[in-house]
Amino acid sequence: MMRARVFVTAEAVGRALALDVARRLTEQPDTVLGLPTGRTPIPLYRELVRLHQAGRVDFSRATTFNLDEFRGLRAVDPRSYRAFMRHHLFDHVNLSPRRIHILDGAARDAERESEHYERAIERAGGIDLMILGLGINGHIGFNEPGRSLVARTHCTRLTPGTRRANASLFGNRASAVPREALSMGMATILHAKRVVLLATGASKARSVARMVEGPVTTRLPASFLQMHRNTEIWLDRAAAGNLDVRIRK
Ligand code: GLP
Repeated sequence: MMRARVFVTAEAVGRALALDVARRLTEQPDTVLGLPTGRTPIPLYRELVRLHQAGRVDFSRATTFNLDEFRGLRAVDPRSYRAFMRHHLFDHVNLSPRRIHILDGAARDAERESEHYERAIERAGGIDLMILGLGINGHIGFNEPGRSLVARTHCTRLTPGTRRANASLFGNRASAVPREALSMGMATILHAKRVVLLATGASKARSVARMVEGPVTTRLPASFLQMHRNTEIWLDRAAAGNLDVRIRK
């Protein structure tokens, strides 16, 4: 059973999770975090930066692994997820650069890069807290809906809808969004000790309800989180709008 927490606004979701992460880092400074990109986690990152500047969160011993990256973009490309993370978080907190991990979208051998990433996660002792966003179509990371899912980190083809959803990073041109991406696989995600999925805004309400109440299906990859014993879904009211279940704040 997935536990849902509903907040009034997207900002409130971000603030609450930032405090949770800060508490966690105080208790266990070498926590391994899995991190998402997209619009949804921006309030979280903004609040983490604020807490850091106020001396209330210390990342010096933390390790991070980002979920995914576009294929073919160099790390310095301003449209890469690495650039996004630098802009929103990494450049403003005291994470040690050698403990920041993002898939290299420019790696020539995607398979090798993926295996390397899996090994790095293992060496770090696994992911303690995996924070996820949710694609409008129910994807997590870049695990797209389809007939099957891939267990481990891999190179994947993006659906036209996902390319459209990411167009804002590419001058609002879906055709400029890379066709492929590297992503953690479903098993990589499910192996995390704790998972917190964030979803905000009415555009996510349908997928949220299907994820929680529908069957586990590769047609809605996030539904696989039903099989994880420690998954929480943190929503704003708009994203919770289609949920039938009784939800507690
Ligand atoms: C992208 C990312 C996902 C993210 C999703 C939702 O496709 N690969 O990891 O969760 O977008 O993005 P947003 O938060 O902007 O809705």
